[in-house]
Amino acid sequence: MELWDDYEATYRERTAGSEAAFERLQEDVPAGVASTYRAWDPYPFVVDRAEGPYLYDVDGNEYLDFDMNNGAAMVGHAHPTVTEAASDQLHDGTLFTHPHELLGEAASALKERWSMMDKVRFTNSGTESTMHAMRIARAYSGRDTVLKIEGAYHGVHDYALISKATPEGQVGHPKRPNKVIESDGIPEKTAETVEVAPFNDLDAVESILEDHVNEIGALIVEPIVLAKGVTQPYDDFLQGLRELCDEYGIVYIFDEVKTGVKVAPGGAAEYYDVEPDLVTLAKSIGGNFPVGAFGGREEVMSVIEDGTAHYGTYNGNPLVARAVETVLNDVLTGEAYDHVNRLGQRLADGYEEIMADHGIEGHVENVNSIGMVLFTDEPVENYRDYLEHIDVEFHENYWFGMLNQGVLPHPHDASQQWTISVQHEEEHIDEHLDAFENIAPRLADEQA
Ligand SMILES: Cc1ncc(COP(=O)(O)O)c(C=O)c1O
Repeated sequence: MELWDDYEATYRERTAGSEAAFERLQEDVPAGVASTYRAWDPYPFVVDRAEGPYLYDVDGNEYLDFDMNNGAAMVGHAHPTVTEAASDQLHDGTLFTHPHELLGEAASALKERWSMMDKVRFTNSGTESTMHAMRIARAYSGRDTVLKIEGAYHGVHDYALISKATPEGQVGHPKRPNKVIESDGIPEKTAETVEVAPFNDLDAVESILEDHVNEIGALIVEPIVLAKGVTQPYDDFLQGLRELCDEYGIVYIFDEVKTGVKVAPGGAAEYYDVEPDLVTLAKSIGGNFPVGAFGGREEVMSVIEDGTAHYGTYNGNPLVARAVETVLNDVLTGEAYDHVNRLGQRLADGYEEIMADHGIEGHVENVNSIGMVLFTDEPVENYRDYLEHIDVEFHENYWFGMLNQGVLPHPHDASQQWTISVQHEEEHIDEHLDAFENIAPRLADEQA
């Protein structure tokens, strides 16, 4: 039997209850999911509950989870300390549309991690964080255009969905990527205020800036591009962008929705020792509560006090403020980082070893709690490399081969990464690697 047919048949056998539940969901909810990414073929398994490093589906299958809510769960599921703090807050009120002191506590906990952050505002998601950061950067610079990186994801607002996942035939010149709007419903005119540059190419960025002097007021980057793989910056790239932003009077935004608090306590800014003007956050700062934030230098953030709009009924509500403060002060401690980083390295080394033993072409990209296996020996240094070298169908076999053994290696899709949580232990890493070892011979045959 073909590998895929075999894996699909096993998946269907294990998840009949999910198939039925997903059919029912589709009657009420478009595509059966609350975020379109979550719908995949043949159908996604339907979750019943989660605890520690595990997810359980409606058929009673247990999954050792390295997806961790698309990277939002560095604390793991239902962390007892976070659960206790949030439960306490449930009794004291979950929403005050008046100032409260928990807001300051949560903001201070972030400021301690990002030295450039003088002021912080909370939002309810990463999308809101990048949308507001872009507005604030435009207001501060007095310029309308935002420069973004080809293939980077910054959420789902109109300005973010340009050249995020350009189809192969439409990409344009590698140094001047085409501006491609991803979705119907986004006005064509949106692209007039967005420019797109390749990752890891300072010359290309500078040439675009020169062509748009006094037009580009903001540059937003995922410091490690995690929308497609784990694409790390060349040594001088992020600092080079800092210098270009200074030269051209541009607000430099790090989108740390995925990297923030995960690659180091102070995110990629700390890891690469580069100071942006604004940082956007969400996901793992909130211990699985819906929260985002953006923060930065006093003079940039002060445009809010001068009238630039940032409002929201649920912004910085006491429930999420309590969760953020607890996650940052009590759960993601120095010891927790040592633990997670050690496990991340163990997983990465284990994958490399198994691939070498079985002659599988591939390599691991690993940055502390975040990593993934790319089934290519070629370096993946920008969006074009990803398109050229990643065999999405092959990766799908790997993913379902793991899933059928009760290991969820990362979110569905070849572009995605694992997250090591504080609730993973060495034995979980070894279980993950054992599952990979089991499918390695068939993957090697498939690749041959
Ligand atoms: C780098 C980055 N920015 C922004 C977002 C959007 O965050 P949210 O899904 O909370 O809106 C994501 C989500 O994956 C992300 O990875």
